[in-house]
Amino acid sequence: MKKKVLVIYYSQTGQLKYVIDNFIKDLYDEEILVDIRSIKPKKKYPFPWPFYQFFDELPESVYLDGCKIEKIEDIDKDYDLVIIGYTVWYMSPSIPIAAFMKSEQAKKILKNKPVVTLVACRDMWILAQEKMKKMLKNIGAVHIDNVVLTDRGGSVASLVTLPRFLWTGKKNAFLFFPPAGIDEKKIEKTSRFGKRLKKALKNNEEKRKKPLLKNLGAVSVNGKLIATEKIANRSFKFWGKLIKIAGKKYSIQRKIIITIYFIFLLSLIFTVVPLNIIIRKIVYPFQKDKIKAMEKYYELPSGR
Ligand SMILES: Cc1cc2nc3c(=O)[nH]c(=O)nc-3n(C[C@H](O)[C@H](O)[C@H](O)COP(=O)(O)O)c2cc1C
Repeated sequence: MKKKVLVIYYSQTGQLKYVIDNFIKDLYDEEILVDIRSIKPKKKYPFPWPFYQFFDELPESVYLDGCKIEKIEDIDKDYDLVIIGYTVWYMSPSIPIAAFMKSEQAKKILKNKPVVTLVACRDMWILAQEKMKKMLKNIGAVHIDNVVLTDRGGSVASLVTLPRFLWTGKKNAFLFFPPAGIDEKKIEKTSRFGKRLKKALKNNEEKRKKPLLKNLGAVSVNGKLIATEKIANRSFKFWGKLIKIAGKKYSIQRKIIITIYFIFLLSLIFTVVPLNIIIRKIVYPFQKDKIKAMEKYYELPSGR
């Protein structure tokens, strides 16, 4: 009998879709049926993002509120393996993906199923993945693998190139900055994961509900970013609450708080962020073992 794989994702600019296309390129086989479905928000998110709307999505992202999405039509419940592709919005799975994960349909499709998560984002995904793991557990899915791709240029350059891309649509290299987004070559090489999954499915290995993508360089955690991510997540939660209390979505009251938040954020980027990088470098040798252990934990289940 043919094996059935469901790929479910939400990609706004198409980058994650390109990752998925490459990831599953070598998964196809006459014995494997691949069903690809995208999550469709009832109200489309704009691209490029208007400045205020970009920040208006912060509270709903951080608090996993979701949004209204279309029901996925003609979908089975008996997949052998599910791949969930998601991007990160404010250190959380994007709003449309959170909406799907909280839907009745997700419960029906994912219960007891082995799930591979595939993340494509700037470079801060650890806490989003913790939230995703919790949502998967809540609906009884079995998380077996995680693959992560992050933007080129590292965390400092992408702090400039990604917002530029999201707010203007410009992806090109400029000044001394590389192009925005994930390196295309890195994306193309994700076909190795599909290839491995095909082999595993043919050998019924997915039935063991254990990792299938070990030793393929699926995930690499930068330990120096863990603390920064935790601090930023706490700050998002605080400001998210303030923006929510201020008023309805896209209201003028929210815009006022967002303006204050943006000034605060800019001052952080120019003061606390560089200071934090220096401090992390200094304390790293003293916390090396602890950080290495955390890296190992966040790299589970697939590992480096
Ligand atoms: C509102 C918003 C917030 C984002 N927040 C984060 C973040 O916290 N961490 C991160 O690594 N990337 C973040 N990103 C980048 C996305 O994860 C992703 O790389 C980018 O939006 C392109 O994805 P696409 O395939 O949907 O076009 C954010 C993007 C958007 C639109």
